[in-house]
Amino acid sequence: MEAIFEGVRSQGATSKEIRLHDINMKGCMGCLSCRTEIGRCKQNDDLSPFLEEIKTADGIVMGCPIYMYRISGQMKLLVDRMYSLYANLPQGGYKSMVPAGKTYALVVSQGADNQELYQKSIRYLAGMTGSGLGMEEVGRIVHINSHDKPAEKNGEMLKNAFEIGQKMARNIPKNITVE
Ligand SMILES: Cc1cc2nc3c(=O)[nH]c(=O)nc-3n(C[C@H](O)[C@H](O)[C@H](O)COP(=O)(O)O)c2cc1C
Repeated sequence: MEAIFEGVRSQGATSKEIRLHDINMKGCMGCLSCRTEIGRCKQNDDLSPFLEEIKTADGIVMGCPIYMYRISGQMKLLVDRMYSLYANLPQGGYKSMVPAGKTYALVVSQGADNQELYQKSIRYLAGMTGSGLGMEEVGRIVHINSHDKPAEKNGEMLKNAFEIGQKMARNIPKNITVE
């Protein structure tokens, strides 16, 4: 994650890191107020401003370990709260309330050697937090965590991560005035 942010900053763009474990974040309470007050989650906690920022940021990077064969519990809480970023369409299906033109990247860390093992969970994470919201994927890293090769010593992966960050920053449209 840090290497991606370095890549972003190397292009003069800025980044903000939010550690879900460190904030006071509640789960979706199922009030469905986001079905009528579209794009807004009624739950008011430390996550609220960051949910709003997803709509204004140029891109997002989702980082998540695999816990018990699935995405982590903290990430699932975020995914559930992201329901507020989807509006129901009258004919069925959903429309993203996130403006178009954004990008996303994924970083997943797992203990098992087999990179294919959790592809279903990884696709789910990508779909719910990125492509489903209309964002374009710029890169995806699946890191196999081991004592022999921790992330900080995996030069090839860090280079790849840095380049993903660069690509995300380069994708930001220039000379746009936001009113
Ligand atoms: C509670 C728990 C459950 C885990 N379950 C799995 C698992 O099902 N499959 C797997 O490959 N690794 C599993 N792991 C290993 C983590 O995915 C791995 O340590 C991860 O790379 C840690 O990332 P981090 O260094 O960013 O914390 C588990 C770790 C913990 C703590």
